[in-house]
Amino acid sequence: MKILRGRVLEFHAEPAAAEDLAAYSYVEDGAVLVDRGRIVATGAYGDLAREGVEVIDHRPHLLMPGFIDTHNHFPQMQVIGSYGAQLLDWLNTYTFPEETKFVDPDHAARIAAAYFDEMLRNGTTTPVAYCSVHKTSAEAYFAEAARRNIRAIGGKVLMDRNAPDGLLDTAQTGYDDSKALIGKWHGTGRALYAVTPRFAITSTPAQLEAAQALLAEHPDCYMQTHLSENADEIAYTMELYPDHPDYLGIYEHYGLLGEKALLGHSIHLSERERGVMRETGSVAVFCPTSNLFIGSGLFDEGGMRNAGVRIAVATDIGGGTSYSMLRTMDEAYKVCQLQGQNLPPLLAFYMLTLGNARALGLEAKIGTLAAGSEADVVVLDARATPAMALRMETVTTLAEELFVLQTLGDDRSVVQTYVAGEAML
Ligand code: GUN
Ligand code: ZN
Repeated sequence: MKILRGRVLEFHAEPAAAEDLAAYSYVEDGAVLVDRGRIVATGAYGDLAREGVEVIDHRPHLLMPGFIDTHNHFPQMQVIGSYGAQLLDWLNTYTFPEETKFVDPDHAARIAAAYFDEMLRNGTTTPVAYCSVHKTSAEAYFAEAARRNIRAIGGKVLMDRNAPDGLLDTAQTGYDDSKALIGKWHGTGRALYAVTPRFAITSTPAQLEAAQALLAEHPDCYMQTHLSENADEIAYTMELYPDHPDYLGIYEHYGLLGEKALLGHSIHLSERERGVMRETGSVAVFCPTSNLFIGSGLFDEGGMRNAGVRIAVATDIGGGTSYSMLRTMDEAYKVCQLQGQNLPPLLAFYMLTLGNARALGLEAKIGTLAAGSEADVVVLDARATPAMALRMETVTTLAEELFVLQTLGDDRSVVQTYVAGEAML
């Protein structure tokens, strides 16, 4: 048993307003009591302190549930910062050649270790990753997560056309490899599997049928893909699938939508598509740093929220430019500003924790500090740099402090990351 002491913040609901006090609890001298990887209790330090129990004193820092990154690409760590291209050229010029290297299990293992190092340095305790097409890349991803007892979600990418030879499976081998990976990893320890057709451009109809079959056989697996990121992508997709009303209609036709469906980007959607997203409970994944860097467009956060569409946030490494969910929310705020929308800091930190947990249907396990939850915790310092410390001199409220973290914070603000109660940094 151990006690993590600090200023403890967690959310219970989506903040309905910038200062929605009912949405969260905050304890100035707070504590999280941890035993065998789980949270036993969270509350006031004075109520939870007990003799003989080790106390790790993180005061004056903030403790909150570990961050969740709902969409990124672990084989793209060496793609980040690739210059001067929009989506389809970016994929063909930089991303596909890089991903071909993951046929080598040693390379995949090395990058998987670096990937989880980087996640934890940034306070992210649950990533949702696309692996490469190679089964070995998913093996490396899950093995590294298991070694560290991380609740990780991922899947081997399915892609059987419109990519280099070294990066193609077939409808059958993609099905077989995914099936084997699901059998080995889904529900093993803290791992969960996502059936991962990359996007409609790189999957034949036969492969989308195979993905549909996998999901029918394993309805508790996730489904992740890309949707409506870029104008040329959308046009090419509709050339390849001319018999569907729109881009989302393709995934709808193959039975890929639902509450476990994570649709990366979802930027340029029609009213019909928004309606289908809402009705099926599918999740639109907002990837702000990527959408700006690749020049894809502005995600309509406010419009999607008002339309009742479920929303998650993510880095989209390596189209995204930062591993930090703090940097991600900084860019999310700016994307909203450019559309005359607000993204209050309480909502931002809700999204990084309980919001993303709910998007994954995992709120009983992660995303809060409730008794019984897995003890994934991040410790944040809003005075981590001289500029932050100076700015903090004028801060008087919790919401202002969170906004400093969101606007100026990055990995330097992450003092410690706990995974199932164990310190990782
Ligand atoms: N669409 C299909 N594949 C990808 C990818 O790897 N990154 C991004 N941003 N979009 C994609
Ligand atoms: Zn992506």
